[in-house]
Amino acid sequence: MSIKHLLSINDLNGSEISSIITRAISSKPMPLNNLLENQTVGIWFEKPSLRTRLSFEIGVKQLGGTTVYLDKDNIGVGSREPIRDIANVISRYIYAFIARTFAHSTLTEFAKYSTIPIINALSDEEHPCQTLADLVTIQEKFGTLKDITIAYIGDGNNVARSLACGAYHMGMPFISSSPLEYKLTISDEMINKSIIHEINPQKAMLAADVIYTDAWTSMGQEEESEIRKNAFQKYQISEKDLDSAKDTTILMHPLPAHHGEEISQDLLYHKKSVVFDQAENRLHAQRAAMEYLFK
Ligand code: CP
Ligand code: NVA
Repeated sequence: MSIKHLLSINDLNGSEISSIITRAISSKPMPLNNLLENQTVGIWFEKPSLRTRLSFEIGVKQLGGTTVYLDKDNIGVGSREPIRDIANVISRYIYAFIARTFAHSTLTEFAKYSTIPIINALSDEEHPCQTLADLVTIQEKFGTLKDITIAYIGDGNNVARSLACGAYHMGMPFISSSPLEYKLTISDEMINKSIIHEINPQKAMLAADVIYTDAWTSMGQEEESEIRKNAFQKYQISEKDLDSAKDTTILMHPLPAHHGEEISQDLLYHKKSVVFDQAENRLHAQRAAMEYLFK
């Protein structure tokens, strides 16, 4: 059987995403099983993380396996050793490899030369594991995904790209609101065309069931932070925006949040915010995704 990687949310079709969501929700009360008994999963992150690393470490444990964290400075991917050689070595030791990278091509190269599943724990282009947890959360809050409209406000980044593609696969309208120079683009023309671009964030939010935002400056873009703060000023989500939205509208954010930038101070604690349920769902969604990829 061919190896299943999760490099992009587009590696899954609508029905696969749907079964991962169903499994994530149904396994919440009884998360433990022995799928990974006697198996070790490698975790290698080029960028910092709280949620992704912790939820994967715990998720693997809940499936009966163990993890080994590979320190980026010691492996020296591409400097001490080429990816091809590393991929060949780790394939002999571990069951799967979970990696957070700068360049997305690092992941595709690992996938090309590995004989084990590679999971994208965030790259500069995509964050598919975040999208799975986001869709689990939306399904729980609305009881359905169909026709639930997401308004994504802010930078057209990795999180936005995976979310827009996930929304496309699940038949959900997706409105993206960014300054022109930070507009979301997707290489798949069909998905790209499905996105509604609305330059005015307030207009975008009015029709939304889900108001979603993320950092203006992603990891690796720190030098652009001041320029970005200026460019995105009108794209901060405020209490007034949430109060003007529909009663049933929810606020989502992958975290970490930058209070006073993409959201006003304390907005994570607004009654419409579901961000901590969303963060918890990283664990359940990834456990279900691993069950799907490893079976
Ligand atoms: N949302 C998310 O991926 O969080 P971390 O960067 O803390 O893993
Ligand atoms: N877009 C953010 C997401 C962090 C989880 C980043 O890449 O830094």
